[in-house]
Amino acid sequence: MIRPLDKKIRSSIKINKKRVQQRLDKLSKFTIPERPWTRRAFTDDYASARKWLIKEMKSAGLVIRLDAGGNLIGTIKGSNSKLGIIASGSHIDTVMGGGRYDGMLGVVAALEAAQSIYESGIQLNHTLEIIDFLSEETSDYGISCIGSRAMSGNLSNKDLQFTNTSGENLGQAIKRIGGNPKKLNAPLRSKNELTAYLELHIEQGRIIETSNKQIGVVTNIVGILRYEITISGRADHSGTTPMHLRQDALVGASKFIEKVNSLAKTFQRTQGHLVATVGKLSVLPNATNVVPGEVRLSLEIRSDNKKRLNNFLNTMIKWSKIKIDKQEQLQIKYQPLSVSNPIFFADTVINKVANSATSLGLSWMKIKSGAGHDAGYMASLCPAGMIFIPCFDGRSHCPEENITIKDAINGASVLTHALLLLDNQES
Ligand code: HGY
Ligand code: MN
Ligand code: MN
Repeated sequence: MIRPLDKKIRSSIKINKKRVQQRLDKLSKFTIPERPWTRRAFTDDYASARKWLIKEMKSAGLVIRLDAGGNLIGTIKGSNSKLGIIASGSHIDTVMGGGRYDGMLGVVAALEAAQSIYESGIQLNHTLEIIDFLSEETSDYGISCIGSRAMSGNLSNKDLQFTNTSGENLGQAIKRIGGNPKKLNAPLRSKNELTAYLELHIEQGRIIETSNKQIGVVTNIVGILRYEITISGRADHSGTTPMHLRQDALVGASKFIEKVNSLAKTFQRTQGHLVATVGKLSVLPNATNVVPGEVRLSLEIRSDNKKRLNNFLNTMIKWSKIKIDKQEQLQIKYQPLSVSNPIFFADTVINKVANSATSLGLSWMKIKSGAGHDAGYMASLCPAGMIFIPCFDGRSHCPEENITIKDAINGASVLTHALLLLDNQES
């Protein structure tokens, strides 16, 4: 039987607003100074931020370890070791010039939840783990969610061979930051080890804000397909090559980009949720007086429906064969980078988040996540869920990303409350 925690004690837990604000400010300062807020995984800024986070976790009474997947884990033991572990966290790495709160909020709030529970003298039934996942953002090795993939057994040997521009592969990078790539051919956590996982994150969109709500209770995360597209033509002198003899890879790429955009709008209108983006592009030889011989671009497709994702991709591949290969006399290659399926969170966790927001008197709404998160991989290990707070004008992955400390504290309070509810569920 689990010892239930009565409401009086639960409400005795105080989130320390000043400490949350200070940690958010301090953590954001670990950035490339001339390009706030940039803290790329595997860099020196990231290593210094982790060193600081370890100190903060220790000061909160957590026991620290780094797992083979490079995840930083702080633990507070529960009273009943026979029960599974409850975990909460997110990531402190960012995109280039990216968010000040994307990921970082979830780590700081989880730490605050653990520390304020610990300081109130309450000992949880379950052991509580606070996790900073390695490299949630798409890394310089081409894949995202590296730490949560490793934890859930979704990091393949092929993934570990991906290299960054200086030729280091992902396995070497994980080793460099203290992980152990040799142990990554199996999940780092078994299915029944964790009782639940819960993550606080900014919405990174405008729905909660425009709906005038305070909390988002996340029901599901979209699936994401990421490909590297290579379009090859023929580099030629731009002055001596007549127009009808050219095989201009950049002209092909421009038609490809336009098609991705128009087809995604058609899918969204006729089939349901789907977005597609070409966010990265490089031209070779990238010279004013040379007809572009090769273009590499990223193709990212997101939808809450797996069939629709694949249907979009196959439509693009068929279209390319005619419009790029035949008509433009170019070769196009689709190289898969990463696939993450749409996931649906557990009702048991969703309900506890909604009950927590209600008992704190906060307005909330159910919402799907258009962004990928570590919680998507943790959901394959245990019942998982997410809590969103609004961010100004939905901006994210840019220096304008911003939140109010009030919303941050609302989110941290719902997180703390929901963790207590998860801890008191009947055995
Ligand atoms: O790209 C994403 O969906 C997440 O923000 N890393
Ligand atoms: Mn994130
Ligand atoms: Mn992000």
